[in-house]
Order: sequence, then structure tokens, then C-alpha cells
Amino acid sequence: TTVEHAADDYELGGHTDFMRKEMTEQPEAIARALRGRLDERFATAHLGGLGLDPMALRAIKRVKFLGCGSAYYAGQMGAALVEELARVPADAEPASEYRYRNPVVDPDALYVAVSQSGETIDTLAAVQELRRKGGRVIGAVNVVGSAIARECGSGVFLHAGPEVSVASTKALTNMTVSFAMLALLLGRVRDLSAAAGTRVVTGLRALPGQVERVLADDAEIARIAKRYAHARHMFFLGRVRGWPVAREGAQKLKEISYIHAEAYQSAELKHGPLALVDAEMPSVVIVPADDLVAKNIGTIEQVKARGGPVIAVTNADLPDGLADEVIRVPRGEPELDPILLTIPLQLLAYHTATALGRDIDKPRNLAKSVTVE
Ligand code: G6P
Repeated sequence: TTVEHAADDYELGGHTDFMRKEMTEQPEAIARALRGRLDERFATAHLGGLGLDPMALRAIKRVKFLGCGSAYYAGQMGAALVEELARVPADAEPASEYRYRNPVVDPDALYVAVSQSGETIDTLAAVQELRRKGGRVIGAVNVVGSAIARECGSGVFLHAGPEVSVASTKALTNMTVSFAMLALLLGRVRDLSAAAGTRVVTGLRALPGQVERVLADDAEIARIAKRYAHARHMFFLGRVRGWPVAREGAQKLKEISYIHAEAYQSAELKHGPLALVDAEMPSVVIVPADDLVAKNIGTIEQVKARGGPVIAVTNADLPDGLADEVIRVPRGEPELDPILLTIPLQLLAYHTATALGRDIDKPRNLAKSVTVE
């Protein structure tokens, strides 16, 4: 049921494993995704592969992202970007659910099939179901010529380069970067102003350098990972922009360290899961520098009051001593925060798994690409 690793075709280039190599490659991967696609003059993006003219772009009444695993979480980040920048209703759903539930296909919607490999059977089946019902579906795919790319016929290629590690890093980052450009384009044929568009273009251009700075925090994140690697369970908490980041962070930790990690919307904590918090249950709290910083400080205090250790991942200014550990990322354009906030969670999972002696690139029971049911 798996596609075997293509490690033979692809050099480690001095790195200990592919996950490390692929995390390190993210600045150049992002630059590749942006190349030739940003338009400073009109403060928009060019995504020629979509095959949609301005009238067709304007006719889109909603956007739905479909993918599995990390591709689904990237889709959730994409949906938020589309709603924020274009004010077009958008959501994400696991393709594996969509294909089985006799979905209502909206002729005015744009469906986006998200897949690194382009071969995931559940995502391919969702695309086929959509096309059979007359839905307009485009691909957001890394592998050119893959089954999903061919079935969709149009879309946006991710240009992340080959990804070997089961835990997706640079492909997921490029998914979200691509969705930021899609959201910018959809926004600029609607009511997103040129000034706001310029802000997003500038923010995207700054990303490779900012990601480089997060990667440079490696030793500090390794220290934190080691300190909490004995935990049996961990929470990942976030709200609004931080929520898909928390989900992706929990997924990464589970995949490669085998520590049980659960993501919750921060405000849901008090509706049940707070009962689990004690000194043995660390929480990673995602705090973007947005209007909700005070709310997130409240979440950290709730966890601390029950004796739970807190690792804050943030680009906001938090009161000194609030969290046990603080991982800082640079501040950019707020809508793009999920991209930057995701990077340290890759490193956290990576160093936790390393501390526990796990097989980083080939976690047990998992495959890079699930092509058969
Ligand atoms: C597998 C991998 C995940 C990946 C998912 C979707 O389950 O283990 O890491 O996110 O498939 O893969 P895709 O190639 O469609 O993005």
C-alpha cells in the first residue's frame, strides 16, 4: 500500500536525514514558489496554471480545500487566507471524508485538491467524484505529471523539489505560500486594495529570510525538545490563525516521535480537556501577534494554574516569565503568520524524535504516499 522511498535518486548532501535536509531547504523552496508569480506593479499574483481569467475568478462564490494529513492542515491555512484576503467563504475538509459522504457539489465553488505526491488515493478519488458531478477542481500539487495533477488538468505547482521524509516540511510550507498567492489573486479581483496587496507581496518576499532566522534557532529548540521528550502526552493549543498551526504541530510530533499529541482550539480547553492538564502534560501554545494575544495569555495562565508546563511559540511580546519556554519567530504580515509559526514546530518534533532515537525519515506504520486503500 505504499510507494517506497526514492532515497537512492536523491542525495542527502551531508545531512543526517531527509527531514533535516528538507527543513533546511525551505527558504530556497519558498523563493522557487514565488519566482515569476508576484506582480509588484499591480500588487497581485500571477498563477497562469489556474486557467481562470478575471471574470472566472470573480464568479467564484466559495473555495474548498481537500487533502489528507498535512495537506489538509495546509488547506485549512489556505481557507483562512482566502477568507481574510478575498472575503470569499472558504473551508477545508479531509479528502478521505469528502469522497465517501455523497457531497453536495457547488457549481459556483472552486475546489482545490492539495497533495505533495499527487498520488494519494483518497484525494484522487475526491477529485474524480468532483469532476463526475461537474465541480471545478484545480490541483495544488508538488509532483508534476502525477495522477492528481493530470486528473485536475490545471492548478498551481508547489515547486518544493523532491520530498523524501514521510513528515512533510517544505511541501507543506509551499502549499501555504501558494494559497497566500491564490488568496491575494482572488482578493485583488475583488475589494482588496492595492496597498493591502502590496503589503502581502512584501510579506511574501520577506519569508525566505525570516524562515532562515527561525531555522537558525535550532540549538535552542533542540534544548527545549530534550527537556520535554519524556512526556507521554502533549497539547497543542491555538485559536484562529494559530489553530491549523497547532494541528499541524501535533501531527508532526505524533508522526515521528510517537508521543501522543492533541490539538485543541485554545478556548475549547475549558470545555473538557483542561481536566488532563498537570505537571506531566506540557502544552505548546501558539500565540500570533494579532488581536487575540490577550486571550492567548489567558490560555497560558489557565494551563500554568494547573501546573502544566507551557512552551509558547510566538511573534508577540509576552510578559516575562509567563511561559516556561518561549520560541520566537520574526514578525511579518499577520495573515502569513501561520507559515512562520509552523517552522519551529517541525524542529520541535524533529529534535524530540531525535532525543528518543526514532527513525526520523521512516516512522513506523507510515508511508510517504498512500496510493492504495
Ligand atoms: C501520507 C503521509 C503524510 C501526508 C499525506 C498526504 O499519509 O504520511 O505525511 O501528509 O499522506 O500526502 P500527499 O502526498 O497527498 O500530500
